[in-house]
Amino acid sequence: MGRRCGAVGGLTDAVLELAGVVAGYGGSDVLQGVDLAVDRGSITCIVGPNGAGKSTVLRTISGLLRPRKGTILLDGRQVGGLAPWEILSMGVAQVPQSGALFPSLSVRENVLMGAYIHRRDGALLRERYLRVEDFVPFLRERGDDRAGNLSGGQRRFVEFARCLMLDPHLVLLDEPSLGLDPGSLARVFDLIGRMHDDGKTIVLVEQNVRLGLAVATRAVVMENGRVRMTGDPADILGNPAIAELYLGGTVRRVDAPGAERTAEPEGSADRAAP
Ligand SMILES: Nc1ncnc2c1ncn2[C@@H]1O[C@H](COP(=O)(O)OP(=O)(O)OP(=O)(O)O)[C@@H](O)[C@H]1O
Ligand SMILES: [Mg+2]
Repeated sequence: MGRRCGAVGGLTDAVLELAGVVAGYGGSDVLQGVDLAVDRGSITCIVGPNGAGKSTVLRTISGLLRPRKGTILLDGRQVGGLAPWEILSMGVAQVPQSGALFPSLSVRENVLMGAYIHRRDGALLRERYLRVEDFVPFLRERGDDRAGNLSGGQRRFVEFARCLMLDPHLVLLDEPSLGLDPGSLARVFDLIGRMHDDGKTIVLVEQNVRLGLAVATRAVVMENGRVRMTGDPADILGNPAIAELYLGGTVRRVDAPGAERTAEPEGSADRAAP
């Protein structure tokens, strides 16, 4: 059974800690007091139904949304309310849920925009771009193509590459599996694994619960603007209450992408199997 929420911190070395965060849009509060601790070096996967507040949590962490209450500690420093460029300069980069690229610009131009805050340091940009090409070889073949001519999976690689231009230590990924075919899915999740091996801490929001929890080292379940449960991914995936709520029935363990599929539970609620 996953640990009940509210036990903020209490992890060995939290790179990010949210305590009692309230945030929202216009007159309404979407986040109703979010407590979340992200352990350094983890892949923390946030799951939950549509409208639970998953993307709003990422927007609040990255400074796109100001918290109305509560604290956000990044490496122990209070960052709630800082501007997005300040959060970027602290090594936190996000791949948003959709529409992040400029379709009329080339792949290379889109990727270089990821290091806009270093635009005056040509040597750094060249060094970073070469390193990102090693991570995402696709850039070598298609660097001059317009981003608007790419497939969904190819665009996702460009979005990841742009995020990596900052050499972030904390990466926020919002639904990377959205709309991808199985082949692209496996390649994107392979890239996530390589980023993790490279020492990056990853916060992964996923509607594809099985896929997200298969690669995660920690699971967080959100519902109605709050963290409902946190714990070991296998415990959460095996929790009947969670399976009922978000997976439409009992769920068997699955392995990371590329492993043979286990039998799909009848009527599973999450997105079609990868
Ligand atoms: N830009 C916005 N302006 C106003 N309301 C918003 C905005 N973005 C999200 N909301 C509202 O905030 C609530 C939470 O949205 P959020 O995008 O965080 O959910 P989510 O968990 O990411 O959902 P999904 O799985 O569908 O992406 C929803 O009710 C949504 O309608
Ligand atoms: Mg979302």
